[in-house]
Amino acid sequence: MDEKAAAPAPPESASSIFGDALPAAVRFAELLAAAGIERGLIGPREVERLWERHLLNSAVVGERVPDRARVVDLGSGAGLPGVPLILARPDLDVTLLEPMARRVAWLEEVVDALGLSATVLRGRAEEPGVKQRLAGADVVIARAVAPLDRLWGWSAPLLRQGGRLVALKGESAADEIERDGAAVGRAGGGHPSVERCGADVLDPPATIIEVERMSALGRASGRGRPRQRSAQRTRKEQGH
Ligand SMILES: C[S@@+](CC[C@H](N)C(=O)[O-])C[C@H]1O[C@@H](n2cnc3c(N)ncnc32)[C@H](O)[C@@H]1O
Repeated sequence: MDEKAAAPAPPESASSIFGDALPAAVRFAELLAAAGIERGLIGPREVERLWERHLLNSAVVGERVPDRARVVDLGSGAGLPGVPLILARPDLDVTLLEPMARRVAWLEEVVDALGLSATVLRGRAEEPGVKQRLAGADVVIARAVAPLDRLWGWSAPLLRQGGRLVALKGESAADEIERDGAAVGRAGGGHPSVERCGADVLDPPATIIEVERMSALGRASGRGRPRQRSAQRTRKEQGH
């Protein structure tokens, strides 16, 4: 992959977040700044704020994820928040879920280039084959994928009872809860809460909405055979 474009140097806080994986995080920033822009995965204006807005904002979500959890990054796109989370938290078992072929190709290249232990799965969260494969996850993470009610509808069937959606939302968080909280409750979710992550390293800290899966979900949990084309597992899981 082309890595010629310069990414900004990491801020000091990056070493405390990424630890030994800092060189891999720097490489991911370089990949995003070069091939990521050429391939339309992020906008050119994002380069100057790659660290704070993208890598660090994503990695601090790890504060809300238990040890050794099974995690699905729903709508991973350029690999956000999933790739920085994997780098900061190598104990996690992360699947990067993404329906678009060219983004899936990018994610596979990133996983290879950084030597990550992660699974890339092509498909949409609501597809029966995807639900069948991913059901029972401890945590679903997502950024910039859908409004809360739709995102919860896609996430709930992937979560075990007691599992949680952790959605990076920003300033809209409280309004989304006001608008969609009742619908989330009717679809098996607990009361959504707003949490802040990374307050010691980010200004402003990352704002997330968290929802716990409370009840069983009847048939919505998804049965049936995976649809070969869309639910194709494209990267073999590797051991930790
Ligand atoms: C605006 S992009 C955000 C990508 C990335 N999370 C980020 O923050 O940069 C939304 C992504 O969600 C994916 N997506 C949309 N609907 C989806 C669904 N039903 N299941 C899984 N992914 C979906 C899109 O293909 C796209 O890559």
